[in-house]
Amino acid sequence: MTQIPLSTVRPPRFPELVPLVRPTVEVDAELELAFREVLRSGMLTNGRHVRAFEEAAADYLGVARTVAVSNCTTGLMLVLRCLDLTGDIAVPSFTFMASGHAARWAGHGVRFAESDPRTWTVDPEALAPQLPDVAGVMGMHTFGAPCDADRLQELCDTRGVPLVFDAAHGFGSRYPDGTMVGGKGVAEVFSLSPTKTLSTGEGGLIATNDTALAAKLRTAREYGNPGDYDSRLVGLSGRMTEIAGLMGTHGLRTLPRWLDVRRSLVERYRSRLGALPGLEFQQLPAGAVSSYKDLGIRVDAERFGMDRDTLAERLHRENVSSRKYFSPALHQQTAYLDVPAGPDLTVTEELASSMITLPLYSHMPAELVDGICDLVTELHASG
Ligand SMILES: Cc1ncc(COP(=O)(O)O)c(C=O)c1O
Repeated sequence: MTQIPLSTVRPPRFPELVPLVRPTVEVDAELELAFREVLRSGMLTNGRHVRAFEEAAADYLGVARTVAVSNCTTGLMLVLRCLDLTGDIAVPSFTFMASGHAARWAGHGVRFAESDPRTWTVDPEALAPQLPDVAGVMGMHTFGAPCDADRLQELCDTRGVPLVFDAAHGFGSRYPDGTMVGGKGVAEVFSLSPTKTLSTGEGGLIATNDTALAAKLRTAREYGNPGDYDSRLVGLSGRMTEIAGLMGTHGLRTLPRWLDVRRSLVERYRSRLGALPGLEFQQLPAGAVSSYKDLGIRVDAERFGMDRDTLAERLHRENVSSRKYFSPALHQQTAYLDVPAGPDLTVTEELASSMITLPLYSHMPAELVDGICDLVTELHASG
């Protein structure tokens, strides 16, 4: 066996693994004290801190009500259950598996919808012919870029089917009309897990302008039990904890500042990597603002000189995390192979095979972004 002399083994560019994402949680004395009070109070779940968070979040989002839940997947399941629909739900295939899982757990079949090659969100015109076959539509704000909610709403209105948003990535995003993501469709459901722009550890938040739906959802997250132990619907155990509620209210205070920092980091990535051939960034609808939950980049193997998988492998060797997100696409995943063939999903398949997400978190040092850009530039030059 040939021995490689130790002197030729080059250490990775980054001595420690650069994480893909880190939650930005500022722990101050006020929060610590509040945590202690909750722990001593004996009231650990669904109490005044959850209610305070719901009110602060509704204010921030500009919606009538928010309903805090244990996570986004549960929130989506509860919304679909409360809508009492029968039939299949159209879901983009270029999404995280939870979008489809929620529809299935709520008792629906799914129909896969195609995505737009520039915005990477569901393509309303491609979806239009599917509408007669579905009971509802789920939009998704890929990586924080708001999908074309107004056009989707128009199409849903013509067929009389409800529109729900998996807004897992969209806390802090704005629609082109300037309103916050959260206020469109029947309901929009955010994730507050550790990889999101606002995190409560684990958590979800349903935003809606339909106060009757919000009331039903409050019962639904309590097993469907309004308090008299006569369940009115088949709900779930979907409450948010008080500690999570506290984290939510606390995080909301500094979120706008962190979102600005995050956007400036994305600008930094874009201005450096946008100059390289074969790397393509997500296009936002004019006037829209993204939360940039993730920084996705499409790699055109021929023009960049290396395919997505090789780039991921070379980054990994240098201790830089990345993710092939969402690959495989939902319709390619084992759990969904039984879904009847639907529309052409070529764009989705191209996105899934060429997308990479690079490290991004709100308190990420700008020099780290520069270092990763230098590395990607060198990898491109070395072919
Ligand atoms: C698009 C999408 N929907 C739903 C979820 C599930 O969120 P949660 O973990 O809060 O259930 C995620 C998680 O990242 C997601 O990316």
